[in-house]
Amino acid sequence: MPDAPSVLFVCLGNICRSPAAEAVFNTHLVAQDLAGRFVADSAGTLGLHAGRPADGRMRDAGDARGHALTSVSRQVTRADFDRFDLVVAMDESNLEDLLEAGADPDRTRLLGTFLPGYEDAISTPEEVPDPYYGGADGFEHVLDMLEAAMPGVLHTLQNEV
Ligand code: 4NP
Repeated sequence: MPDAPSVLFVCLGNICRSPAAEAVFNTHLVAQDLAGRFVADSAGTLGLHAGRPADGRMRDAGDARGHALTSVSRQVTRADFDRFDLVVAMDESNLEDLLEAGADPDRTRLLGTFLPGYEDAISTPEEVPDPYYGGADGFEHVLDMLEAAMPGVLHTLQNEV
């Protein structure tokens, strides 16, 4: 049997946005009765927080919506670029760093390209803003964007990888 289609979510520190993306994706799978049929992981372009759990503020905001953030921070590696069918960057700077590190441009996309209403070529994809230095609404905004984008991420994994 072929491996399950896989997605890697990437942000800077892998303690806020990308662990939340991984959790929201997994919640979406359960809601669609597809748990275990796809693989999700997350990583950061920066290794600074490697080995740590997700930021407590992001975990609390996720828990309140039923998204359990259980991942431990790690830095993205070159092997990830072969291992994952799809790599999803949270902002332009993450995307640039990934491409510079050798990620496959055909399989590496901004999260904003999966948002409803985004149309390739005529709109600029929205970035998922870094909530680390801001207030509580930043974490809620991240979750709003992730929840809105996950049907598109799943659809891509089902149809395009
Ligand atoms: P994340 O947020 O990229 O969403 O995990 C950040 C976490 C930590 C730092 C920056 C962004 N930092 O500079 O320590």
